Parts: sequence; structure tokens; C-alpha cells
Amino acid sequence: MSQKHPIIFFGTSTFGSSHVPALQDKTIVSQFLDVLHDGGITQIDTAARYPPDNHGASERMLGRVKAHARGFTINTKVLFAGNNSAGTLSREAVRKSAANSLETLGADKLGILYAHTSDNATPLEEQAEALNEQYQKGLCEKIGISNFPLDMLKSFIDICEEKGYVKPTVYQGQYNLVCRGPEKKLLPFLRAHGMAFNAYSPLGGGFLTGNLTKGTAEGTRLTSAYGAHFARWYDRPEFHDAVRALLRAIEPLGIRPSEAALRWVAYHSALREADGIILGATKAEHLRQNLADIEKGPLPQEVVDVVADIGRTIDALGGGDFEVVPANLPPR
Ligand SMILES: NC(=O)c1ccc[n+]([C@@H]2O[C@H](COP(=O)([O-])OP(=O)(O)OC[C@H]3O[C@@H](n4cnc5c(N)ncnc54)[C@H](OP(=O)(O)O)[C@@H]3O)[C@@H](O)[C@H]2O)c1
Repeated sequence: MSQKHPIIFFGTSTFGSSHVPALQDKTIVSQFLDVLHDGGITQIDTAARYPPDNHGASERMLGRVKAHARGFTINTKVLFAGNNSAGTLSREAVRKSAANSLETLGADKLGILYAHTSDNATPLEEQAEALNEQYQKGLCEKIGISNFPLDMLKSFIDICEEKGYVKPTVYQGQYNLVCRGPEKKLLPFLRAHGMAFNAYSPLGGGFLTGNLTKGTAEGTRLTSAYGAHFARWYDRPEFHDAVRALLRAIEPLGIRPSEAALRWVAYHSALREADGIILGATKAEHLRQNLADIEKGPLPQEVVDVVADIGRTIDALGGGDFEVVPANLPPR
């Protein structure tokens, strides 16, 4: 019987990327949907920006493989192109992006429509009104916010309350066993406001496979233009120490690092059942393996204790949190 864990989403930021030629192939992408279907996963995460080197190609691919018609709920984000998010959440920009996403996906309604990242050029009131408009038109089931600093999220919610706009019910942010920043202030705030947290990069974009630490990352995403920003974020002695501590605990037990990281986030992290875990994979067999690993259930206590130690160390270093600065994201 399936064990209780947060809702699993599959993230498609690599679909259509020039860095992953296989994922420009409709037949191969279709295989990912088969794996999701077999695993009972119905939620897909995408964005008008994805993949960062070919904006819109992920949604186009999802449209071509008829993901919506096959019963998947598609959750997407308002477009921000390049590395400048100024103006991306204006009324017109939100209207245009949502309409384009729906058409490209061949869908009449989105699951969650997110603001992808903060827009410091558009008044927050206009952003809240713009997202409210999409919700009131029935074009999405929920409004979500991704990557906003906490103060901005607070102001956004205050505006929704004042003006009677629909409030966001989901926040999407980075969270994994070495990126623990959200536990401190963000998660308590979300709990107080009845918002779910959808955790992206549960493997730190591949860092928690241990390959970068072991010097075996050649040929993986971390050494490509697409994943280099993850390598830049995580390639720090304290994170490598964390991975080495994890490896010492799991290798005698025959547990792979990706498995440990996913089982930790599913069963031992601060996430709850109504939250989400957004998996990433560029190979269908990795996705199948990740889904099977999660179903193995909680980790042995000795591994949980080691991850708790890692959490304390990371906390002392400032939480291992990453502010998503548009300029640090992958190139167009
Ligand atoms: N809101 C935002 O700003 C934001 C930011 C980042 C991500 N996201 C969302 O979250 C999704 C997932 O993020 P992510 O791709 O960073 O997730 P992730 O799970 O942290 O990293 C995925 C990478 O880990 C490696 N991997 C996965 N399973 C593996 C396995 N079983 N064995 C070995 N390696 C494995 C793969 O690297 P290789 O490709 O090298 O095989 C894969 O590309 C994205 O697609 C997107 O939908 C949102």
C-alpha cells in the first residue's frame, strides 16, 4: 500500500531543451508521461520560461503529447524571459502569458498559475489584480507564488485581503536536505496562512546524487550550461561535507544518495501531505527509479539522525537557502 507523503509533481523544465536532445523527441517525452501514469502521478509542473534556453518549448511539448487530454493537471508560471523579470507581472503580461500557455497546452484550465519570480517594476497591487483576474475568469484552479522574498509575499497577501482578490494558496521554493532555509520563517508563515509549499529541486538539481562531490559529474546536468547554476550554488565545502556524511551513513545500507534525499524530503522533512515535491529527471528510467524509491517509505533512523546533524550544521551556516536572483539563472 502506498505510504503517505506530500503530493508528487513532475517538473518539465528540461523538456524541449537544446541541452537535452532526447527531450526534444515527442516519443521519448511520451515515455515520461507513461511512467507518471503507471506511478499514479497526475501533476505536472512547467513554466512559460521553460526550458530557459528555449522559452515555451516545455509547454509546446506538453501540448504535442496531449498531456492535458491524457488527464494530467498542468501547473505553469507566468513568463519571464532572459534574466530580467521587470514588467513580467503587469496586467497585460499576465493576460498574454496565461492565454498563450492555455492555447499551447491545449487546455481550458490550468491547475496552479504561479508568478515565477518577483517583478520589481510593476506595482504589487497590479500583480495581485492581474493574477486575480485569471482566477476569476476560471482559467486556473489556484494562484501560486514562486521565489518571492517573504516580505513581498506578506505584502502581496495583505493587498489580496484589502482588495478582496483571491489569495495565493501555494508557494513554490527550493528545499532539500542541504537547502533548509524555508524551515525558519517561510514555512511557519505559509502554515499560518493555509498555504501549501511545493518544494523544487529535491536533489539540488542533481547535487544530491553525490556526483559533484565524488568527481563523477562529467556528462551530467551539473557540468552543462543548463545546470551550471546549481553547481555554482552547491559547490561549497560545507555542502560537500554534508554529502560525504550522508554517503558514510547510506553506503553500508545499500541506499543510493538520490534515494536517501528523496525519502528524506518525502517522510522526514518539514513538508506535510498537502505540500508538494517537484521531481526532476532527464531520463525516464531515473523518474521510474525515483518514484519507486519514494514508495520505499521512511529511512532507517541512523540515516535520519545523520541528516538531522547535517541540518544543524547547515543552519549554523545560515540555512543553505538560495535567493533566486534572475541574473544567476541559466542563459536564454
Ligand atoms: N520555481 C522555480 O524557480 C524552479 C526552479 C527550479 C526547478 N523548478 C521546478 O522543479 C523541477 C525539478 O527541479 P530539478 O530538476 O532541479 O530537480 P532535482 O530533482 O533537484 O534535480 C534533477 C536532476 O537530478 C538528476 N537525477 C534525478 N534523478 C536521478 C537519479 N535517479 N539518478 C541520478 N541522477 C538523478 C538528474 O540529472 P541529469 O539530468 O544530469 O541526469 C536530474 O536532471 C523543475 O523541472 C521545475 O519544474 C522550479
